Amino acid sequence: MIRDIIIAIDGHSGCGKSTTSKLVAEYFNYKYLDSGAMYRAITLYFLRNKISYDNEELIKKNFDNITITFKYIDGYQNTFLNNENVEREIRGDKISNNVSKYSSISLIREHLVSIQKEMGKRRKIVVEGRDITTVVFPDAEVKIFMTAEINVRAKRRFQDMKKNNPEVTYGDVLENLSERDNKDSNRKDSPLRVADDAIVIDTSNLEIDEQALKIIDIIKNKFS
Ligand code: DC
Repeated sequence: MIRDIIIAIDGHSGCGKSTTSKLVAEYFNYKYLDSGAMYRAITLYFLRNKISYDNEELIKKNFDNITITFKYIDGYQNTFLNNENVEREIRGDKISNNVSKYSSISLIREHLVSIQKEMGKRRKIVVEGRDITTVVFPDAEVKIFMTAEINVRAKRRFQDMKKNNPEVTYGDVLENLSERDNKDSNRKDSPLRVADDAIVIDTSNLEIDEQALKIIDIIKNKFS
């Protein structure tokens, strides 16, 4: 057993961050927080209510009407927006194509960051995202930055997406990933960057299990 800590994991889109983070959380019997799901759920709320990302006044007024929670169903963490299971909807193209606009708004970031900090108060949690090691939990005991070559990430994502969408091309996926990298890293507020004390893991030549084991080993070596 390790003592109660925060394990913060940031990194690029498409390097298996979520699956790896869940495996690490399961291993240590920790809670798991997918901060990207919160940005996706809040984007869904604002799109449904036709509130534009630049309407700060309406955004602020609506914070009290938005509750985002998580519940395990069949071993899989589902995201709930005001008690409605929106897990499927937030993973769709409509949200994927709009979330970076809403997640670049400082007002929205401040709101979600304060909820995330509250959720990590008791520690014993694995939190993944883009600003977890730098902004949300700069005091986390373990900080990991996951990356992989863009063509490797695109290939993995393409294999995955092909199953549900036979029309998708490798070129589309590559272009989409590179656009996301660009937006994540060049955002004014809390851009994706490697924290000074983060351990960088390049997953280009690793399977998911190997990635998870690598992180688990780092934590065990440091804390047991
Ligand atoms: O990890 P993901 O693809 O589900 O994240 C969805 C979006 O939210 C993505 O555009 C990056 C953004 N995000 C963020 O700005 N900060 C976080 N901590 C997590 C995600």
